Amino acid sequence: MITDLWYKNAVIYCLSVESFMDSDGDGVGDFRGLARRLDYLHGLGVTAIWLMPFQASPGRDDGYDVCDYYNVDPRYGTLGDFVEFTHGAKQRGMRVLIDLVVNHTSDQHPWFQSARSDPKSPYRDWYVWSKKKPKNAHTGMVFPGVQDSTWTYDEAAKAYYFHRFYKFQPDLNTANPCVRAELLKIMGFWIQLGVSGFRMDAVPFVIAEKGPDVGAEPKPDFGMLRAFREFLQWRKGDSVIIGEANIVPKEAMKYFGDDGDRLQMMFNFHANQRLFYALASGDAEPLARALNETRPRYGTAQWGVFLRNHDELDLGRLEPEQRQAVFDAFGPEKDMQLYDRGIRRRLAPMLKADRRRLELAYSLMFTLPGTPVMRYGDEIAMGDDLALPERYCARTPMQWTDGKNGGFSLADKTFLPAISGGGFGFQTVNVAEQRRDPGSLLNWMERIIRMRQEIPEIGWGECTVLPLRDRCVLALRYDWRGNVVIFLHNFDAEPREITFRTGEKSEESAILTNLLSDEHCEPDEDGDHCVVLEGYGYRWFRVGGLDEILRRRDV
Ligand code: GLC
Repeated sequence: MITDLWYKNAVIYCLSVESFMDSDGDGVGDFRGLARRLDYLHGLGVTAIWLMPFQASPGRDDGYDVCDYYNVDPRYGTLGDFVEFTHGAKQRGMRVLIDLVVNHTSDQHPWFQSARSDPKSPYRDWYVWSKKKPKNAHTGMVFPGVQDSTWTYDEAAKAYYFHRFYKFQPDLNTANPCVRAELLKIMGFWIQLGVSGFRMDAVPFVIAEKGPDVGAEPKPDFGMLRAFREFLQWRKGDSVIIGEANIVPKEAMKYFGDDGDRLQMMFNFHANQRLFYALASGDAEPLARALNETRPRYGTAQWGVFLRNHDELDLGRLEPEQRQAVFDAFGPEKDMQLYDRGIRRRLAPMLKADRRRLELAYSLMFTLPGTPVMRYGDEIAMGDDLALPERYCARTPMQWTDGKNGGFSLADKTFLPAISGGGFGFQTVNVAEQRRDPGSLLNWMERIIRMRQEIPEIGWGECTVLPLRDRCVLALRYDWRGNVVIFLHNFDAEPREITFRTGEKSEESAILTNLLSDEHCEPDEDGDHCVVLEGYGYRWFRVGGLDEILRRRDV
């Protein structure tokens, strides 16, 4: 297989323009500010930037309520600033992915305004209506506790409209061919302006059948995904879609397509939930099983591997006792939890900023099968502000320095306050400070990313979970082009001694070269390798001696 499928070995960094860097002192981040931070991202080793929504929006769901798909929200700059930014990223060899939020629009979108005010409007059928209140109006809410129905009566339209999310986000009728044509046009527009693809929001809902008579399990139209891909590949061959779909593994394969003809990438929510269970309980077995269950069948398909994202940590698909174990460990207080299914905190406070556990978690993110997707602020262990509502607690300004607003803005008031004081305030947690400290998390992250980039086996290779007797340790092996790498992770607070076979007879006498330190591992006379992992310890090994590996390597 050709190795220039860039997304197979990328390091993706997710940020919102709003919270990254404010260049003009109005308290809101902007494209010009972000452009000035491109060298920082490049230096960290990021190869692709995923921008959360920045299009014109009333901002009632942090931009996931778009009212003009063809424009930058004036608070963040202009289309000109956007193009300067993508150009700057390209000059540094970084790609740009953007959020594509097309399951719904804002209720302020001119399409919806036209649709509701005139039954003869060409946009009427762009949304989903019902004269009577549908029987299913109180089912299928995505934000239980905050949202109380999925159908809301509109006075002007004299009808109910469907909204899978908040009521100010009417769903688009994606079965309408005109809507579909418009979605392609939106993609074509941003592709033309220099992006390399999209993080597609809420994919299962985009492709679901919608309407008042639809039952609890709406039929998906997977043909749409194929049509999106065909269009993008024709316009720009190296563009990709990474899908947001929290679904069971059997379904996920349908999103990739049996012949790999649908989405190139999907976030691995299935493994994510079991990863947090492993971190909470010390039991890696469900995670190992999840990795086996989510083995993509087609070579061009790729998982996005993440820890926390901008939403709550959704634990909805764990067994009840597993879910409880994660709540107990990471979100015991009511105000840490959200929507009856998740935890809204950032990773560092969940792990009590324990450096050993943070390294374990990020080491996993960089070595599980797929492409790592980091979130801004992770690299310095930023915290959260639980005084902010819902998911906003984890969307505070990036902490650059110990100066005013953490160096994010010179304004007296910022869009959200920067985290100040306490263990996670910008006075102690900031980029400037960590740059100076060779032992900081920031410098660790930069080194680990650099090493990850030298291990294409993770992105490309065949992954096997090595059998171990100890459920606290996860051992993964990757094979690719005659090279083998092995990763060990101990989820327990206590040291664990493990004995394992690399897997192949021919490797029994091989030394395991440690990629992060000089503690290499020789096999015993039976061909077993024995490693003592410290509490929360991890190891990155190549099978074979270093000189031999360097000679053999062909990537
Ligand atoms: C996705 C986004 C979330 C947003 C929702 C509605 O789940 O990740 O932030 O609120 O879609 O667009």
